[in-house]
Amino acid sequence: MSLSKTIAIANQKGGVGKTTTAINLSSALGILDYSVLLIDADPQANATSGLGIQTKDNDFTVVDLFRAKENSDQCILETHCPNLKIIPGSIKLAEIELNVENSILTRLKTALDSLKSQFDFIIIDCSPSLGYLTLNSFVAADSIIIPVQCEFFAFNGLQKLLATIKSIKTNFNSTLDIEGVLVTMYDKRLSHSNHIINELKKHFQDLIFKTIIKRNISLSEASSFGSSILDYNVTSEGSTDYLNLSQEIMKKRALKQQSPLGKKIPQILQDTKEEISFLDPQKERNLEYYKPFKLENKNFKKLIGCTKKEVIVLLGLVYNDIHSNIWMYRISEKTSMFRKNFLYIYFEKNTVKHIQLKRFKFR
Ligand SMILES: Nc1ncnc2c1ncn2[C@@H]1O[C@H](COP(=O)(O)OP(=O)(O)OP(=O)(O)O)[C@@H](O)[C@H]1O
Ligand SMILES: [Mg+2]
Repeated sequence: MSLSKTIAIANQKGGVGKTTTAINLSSALGILDYSVLLIDADPQANATSGLGIQTKDNDFTVVDLFRAKENSDQCILETHCPNLKIIPGSIKLAEIELNVENSILTRLKTALDSLKSQFDFIIIDCSPSLGYLTLNSFVAADSIIIPVQCEFFAFNGLQKLLATIKSIKTNFNSTLDIEGVLVTMYDKRLSHSNHIINELKKHFQDLIFKTIIKRNISLSEASSFGSSILDYNVTSEGSTDYLNLSQEIMKKRALKQQSPLGKKIPQILQDTKEEISFLDPQKERNLEYYKPFKLENKNFKKLIGCTKKEVIVLLGLVYNDIHSNIWMYRISEKTSMFRKNFLYIYFEKNTVKHIQLKRFKFR
């Protein structure tokens, strides 16, 4: 059995610290002398830009792994972090997510199988969705880290996520395990923080990592400078937290400890009535969910107050998760290759509370 371990970092809820964890856990493992490959499986490609990597149009990316055209080796790029290589992400991944012909969930696994022997760890940064790309990551992974932000809505979408993991385990990847639930952006000054941690512990027990990632401004500064936290500010709390996390994962690997996924998931899922229909992606995608949308910039404000159903009728579900409270749409198809505008929609109690336009630069 190969000693290499593939870990997907996933939560369909947006902005919970997936990418921050992917970058800094990977670089911490690299510093500890393990060879690591980071896979940026998110169309936003934040893990790529967060490590200061700029891909050119004709560079190989994760897209080529999914198209199975290229030798997977050709897609690997060096990073400035020791022992860390990356297969960069690309906005073109969004096309793969939406391509109705895609139904093969083993594409990424097949591509990574040929690379495993070169690395101690392969870390996959997933997008905030439970679509085709993330399902492929679950099929390819040995285990999953679920970051949850320490805030009131921490539990949102977790049942659906666990039900999806369970289904992939049953149908495609019987050894899939949960590496752990990682509490992120903990702030001890906020009185509700400890309450939320206690609730999470009650629910997930020893699935919660002992390491808790505190809110630390250096972490967000580091990625805006295209650095890992270990390069940017090695004495920061963020740096210590991610080094501790990597050690906790190493210890677990050494002890070959398995989380009690098999036992606990059915219990956790007892209350869940989720229907997981991804096994027939064709059927899912025939719904008007995937209808392309046309919405003028000036109309965005009209979304405020709409229900999720109404937003789907207007914009399609695209690759958002219906259970998440933050949805994202790429807008203005015809703008330059270098700038992409995204519309973020924030729901509260099933209606749009707030919208935000974000601009990402791609180079
Ligand atoms: N521990 C932390 N302390 C302070 N800021 C953080 C921390 N973790 C993440 N952030 C910041 O929060 C924002 C969201 O984090 P990140 O991009 O890692 O989340 P994500 O789950 O990958 O988001 P998405 O769902 O869009 O992919 C970023 O601006 C990041 O810099
Ligand atoms: Mg991310």
